[in-house]
Amino acid sequence: MDATTFLYKSDPVRGRQWAEVFQRRAPGIDFRIWPDIGDPAQVRFLAAWEPPPNLADRFPNLKVLFSSGAGVDQFDFAALPPDLPVVRMVEPGIVQGMVEYVTHAVLGLHRDMPRYRRQQQQGQWRPLPVRPAGERRVGVLGLGSLGQAVLAQLAGLGFDCAGWSRSRHAVEGVACHAGADELPAFLARTDILVCLLPLTESTRGFLNARLFSMLPEGAGLVHVGRGPQLVDADLLAALDSGRIGDAVLDVTDPEPLPQDHAFWRHPNIQLTPHIASVTQPLSAAQVVLDNLRRFENGEPMIGLVDRVRGY
Ligand code: NDP
Ligand code: OXD
Repeated sequence: MDATTFLYKSDPVRGRQWAEVFQRRAPGIDFRIWPDIGDPAQVRFLAAWEPPPNLADRFPNLKVLFSSGAGVDQFDFAALPPDLPVVRMVEPGIVQGMVEYVTHAVLGLHRDMPRYRRQQQQGQWRPLPVRPAGERRVGVLGLGSLGQAVLAQLAGLGFDCAGWSRSRHAVEGVACHAGADELPAFLARTDILVCLLPLTESTRGFLNARLFSMLPEGAGLVHVGRGPQLVDADLLAALDSGRIGDAVLDVTDPEPLPQDHAFWRHPNIQLTPHIASVTQPLSAAQVVLDNLRRFENGEPMIGLVDRVRGY
């Protein structure tokens, strides 16, 4: 490679862990952590959550933009150089974190933990019927790197699993649905709905009253996609009517959620501050190095974003 700088612009503590991996595995690359950019003409690769403005002027030789997270909705594609490849984060650490979070949330809803918490607050000792996992229908919106990994775990626990995506997929042990035509049937058979869709113009406001009306009465919701996919007022109405029984929300709009927002104090909502999963620096840096090798060899990079589709 020519004199090459890989510039990292995200959490600096994690950046130092990336630096160690680069130092060990690719000592020829000058790895720098923002704002220490060195010679801007040597910056060929940038990993960022929020890239700096005017990328083309600032880094005239930039070849690839890596997202430091799985999502790329934080990028303003229109402001990026039109031919710049954008790559989202697909790495084992972020997948494992999401599998843990969603499995925990689904098991909690399956075993009525939110209701037991409410009963405890009332001093009520009241056992509820225990349903086997095989009688609980879980449906995952999004069959990407995270959705499929989550489903593999849930299917392994014996849940009756289905998934929905834009294009058709075949996943062992999962009833796969595709496209708008198959959405109603997918929702009608879903007791616990998990949202793992990317935020795009087609998924903004997707979790709304119409969608909730197609779920069975009392369904559970686990939302780990992006806050703007959920219409807050519609969720509150669905909780009030009993259409949705309980919701676990890891993402909100905006973040952090304002103190006066109704979600904070709703007895049927469990909130976490966007921690379902985070990029793990050591595994992420190795995946990015592998992608650099692919790029240099003219091979397709893992996680290359289709900028027209938006994910
Ligand atoms: P992928 O790009 O691998 O998968 C996206 C999936 O969504 C694909 O199956 C895709 O369908 C499907 N999809 C996209 N748009 C539509 C649509 N309009 N209709 C139907 N299906 C659609 O993404 P990941 O699995 O890696 O990540 C998913 C999202 O999870 C991220 O974009 C991010 O928003 C969120 N996330 C949240 C985190 C948290 O901590 N809360 C952490 C990490 C990620 P197809 O397969 O046909 O293309
Ligand atoms: C991500 C996230 O997209 O943290 O990686 O949400």
